[in-house]
Amino acid sequence: MPDQIRVLIVDDIPETRDHLTKLLGFESDIDVVGAAASGAEAIELAVKLAPDVVLMDINMPDMDGITATEQMAARAPTAAVVMMSVQGEADYLRRSMLAGAREFLVKPFSSDELTTSLRQVHLREREKLTRMVARPVASMNGSGPEGAREPGQIIALFSPKGGVGRTTIAVNLAVAAAAELGKKVVLVDASFQFGDVGVLLNLNPKNKSIADLGPELEQGEPESLDTFVINHSSGIRVLLAPPSPEMAELVTTSGVKRILDALRRQHDLVIVDCTSWFNDTTLAILDMADVILTMLSLEITSIKNMRLFLEVADQLGYEQGKVRLVLNRADSTLGIRVQDVEHSIGRKVDHTIVSDGRSVVYALNRGVPFFLSNREAQVSQDVMRLASAIAGEPVVAPVVEEPKTAQRKSLFAWR
Ligand SMILES: Nc1ncnc2c1ncn2[C@@H]1O[C@H](COP(=O)(O)OP(=O)(O)OP(=O)(O)O)[C@@H](O)[C@H]1O
Ligand SMILES: [Mg+2]
Repeated sequence: MPDQIRVLIVDDIPETRDHLTKLLGFESDIDVVGAAASGAEAIELAVKLAPDVVLMDINMPDMDGITATEQMAARAPTAAVVMMSVQGEADYLRRSMLAGAREFLVKPFSSDELTTSLRQVHLREREKLTRMVARPVASMNGSGPEGAREPGQIIALFSPKGGVGRTTIAVNLAVAAAAELGKKVVLVDASFQFGDVGVLLNLNPKNKSIADLGPELEQGEPESLDTFVINHSSGIRVLLAPPSPEMAELVTTSGVKRILDALRRQHDLVIVDCTSWFNDTTLAILDMADVILTMLSLEITSIKNMRLFLEVADQLGYEQGKVRLVLNRADSTLGIRVQDVEHSIGRKVDHTIVSDGRSVVYALNRGVPFFLSNREAQVSQDVMRLASAIAGEPVVAPVVEEPKTAQRKSLFAWR
């Protein structure tokens, strides 16, 4: 039957394999197509049987579940892995997710938890495949016949005030667009003095960064910058900020422009995490961007600065559709409502993202984007909506309620 979920069970303990097979035997929509006793056998069977989902134990003697998952991603890419582990192994969660596992079940789990996970993972994978099939091949693999491809979009995350969640959203947006929309994504940390992208993705600070590009920035072949872009296990590519603030001076505006131009030719999306102050480089990035996701929070300083930024954006001649407003932590109960914000800045908020300190901080401290470790959370769903809006459909200009000049006079009128 086409709707059956084909499951491969991987566990080195025979009793566990039997138990899981029996448990899943009661489900009419799930077929256990095979059982493997080791990581190596799992890969072999996954290639042969093409299961939809692989239920993988993490601790196995020859090859552990994480290594098997990594190798499976290359050899049986359509098989989605659900990892199983015992409690108290938080580091395993991080490593599993980074290896490409879609879910993580902590033993002992109930039969309900197991079947719900399998069904959710299967559904998500199917939706993802449908979206990928619907897209032209050229944009899916990042290059057309002779490497010819449409230049990708540059998405700048900017906020005229710091600490509103630019980096958090940039990282998760990049992962969502790659994992769920099948886009070829590169994330550029343009917070050249105090970049946080590497921390959120648990990348070693000894990795190459934009500062290593040196003379290449000015005159080298832009293609050579490929060696400075890191392949992250979540499927995105990353160009890190320099490891220490004084090295930011090595990064020139003309160099950044060349880099973005080159990256745009190789990727569907170039997501740039900008700083919150205007300088030549930030302005150059904003100029080049196809979309500026301008982030704000429900705080009076953030709203005031947003108003000023919108005036600057007007003076710079940025059209309405280019600047999109993203309200982060939109449900914080701080006494300011979304309507108040819209009234004050004179335009609609285009996207909202809920506040979810638990998921966000938990993910931050583990170095795994929350979009991977807690896909069901509302905050992940909000990020997914944002990703679909900017990458999955044409950008539509936001609705403006009244002429802006009239509304801008009313700043703080709601206070
Ligand atoms: N939706 C959210 N819910 C809860 N906490 C959030 C959310 N978004 C961001 N945060 C938290 O807000 C803080 C600031 O986030 P982040 O570092 O991403 O902001 P930023 O704009 O990049 O800051 P900076 O100006 O330092 O670069 C972090 O502690 C982050 O965990
Ligand atoms: Mg930041």
